[in-house]
Amino acid sequence: MLINRVEDAPRSITRFRRENRVAQNGADSVASTADDGTETMSPAEVEHVAEIFKTPLTCSYNWDYRVAEDRIRKLYELGKRLNWNASLDVHWDQTPDWQDAKPWGEEQIESWLEDNPWNGYPPWDAMSVERRCEYFFQNQCWSLSQFLHGEQGALLVASQLASSAPTFNAKLYAASQTFDEARHVEVFNRFLKTKVGFRYPVTRGLKDLLDKILTDERWDLKFIGMQIILEGLALAAFHTARNDTSDPVLKELLYLVIRDEARHVTFGVNYLEEYIQTLSEEEREDRARFAYEACVVSRDRLIATDVFRYFGWDADEAKRVLVERGINADFQTRLYERVIPNLKRIGLLTDRIRPKFEEMGVMDFENLATDGDIDWRELEKPLEPDVTE
Ligand SMILES: [Fe+2]
Ligand SMILES: [Fe+2]
Repeated sequence: MLINRVEDAPRSITRFRRENRVAQNGADSVASTADDGTETMSPAEVEHVAEIFKTPLTCSYNWDYRVAEDRIRKLYELGKRLNWNASLDVHWDQTPDWQDAKPWGEEQIESWLEDNPWNGYPPWDAMSVERRCEYFFQNQCWSLSQFLHGEQGALLVASQLASSAPTFNAKLYAASQTFDEARHVEVFNRFLKTKVGFRYPVTRGLKDLLDKILTDERWDLKFIGMQIILEGLALAAFHTARNDTSDPVLKELLYLVIRDEARHVTFGVNYLEEYIQTLSEEEREDRARFAYEACVVSRDRLIATDVFRYFGWDADEAKRVLVERGINADFQTRLYERVIPNLKRIGLLTDRIRPKFEEMGVMDFENLATDGDIDWRELEKPLEPDVTE
């Protein structure tokens, strides 16, 4: 076993050798493939790149095994019932390798080029149409890579919650969520390896957000960061990606992941709603500030600067142009429509923190529906076999 311990997350793009990738539609073949469709490697060939972080996690046993028949218990049961298997429930062979054929047609490219916020930005205007199409490809790969890294973060936080959450139902739920997040890591990793062919490193803003959540001692801050902010962010991003893609495999796997994430957010809101009430005013303000800071990181720092660098642009300048032109506006609306009502419901839009959110211009969303209002019929729907539309 080869473990390479590093001080920080790698900064370079990882490319998967074509001969080691899975055969798609008979296009090419490899001698042997693992269950997940990727290459099989001997243990000696795999280099594990491990970044150590330390966390003074305060954990708890629970010596009262009686089970409260509450919403949390019901969500746990639902999680077990709606389990899926990435190897069997995603039809991986529906589309070719993106290196051979991109899953978007001329019409889509035309509409991208026309309705493109970069128009008028000199480095963009200087690029050929082929180069601009390459930009869309790189940008999609960057997003999918951040989904993968974010899911790994969620896996690590969920596993911490199983140890640190103080109540029995929450421990069981966190354990089931841990398995959900493992499947999410699995599907995004497989998609990048077998369809896209390369992977971008984790972006600094996302890494900072994950570090903040993973290394805080207080379990409920992890809980808030993970179930309200990170999952809210993930749901907004997954819905956007699912609407934008015409790749049936990606549509299918996002459908499965979104189902799980919606349940995770619902669990978080319902649990925190009761828990936050047990805190002192000062403790509550602390949590409210933490949630606000996590929102700021999500707004300002999740930008594809590595893609800008790939094209040789000045990353700071391009980032400024992007923010000025409100390129992320749609995504941010989706994010805050979800996060702000949830923060209000769990009691974290305190009088002290409200003016800061007002400055961000997101308080219009405070009275929208929350994920705490459980639509059991929607959550209980069985998984649909064909979800590629
Ligand atoms: Fe997830
Ligand atoms: Fe999740």
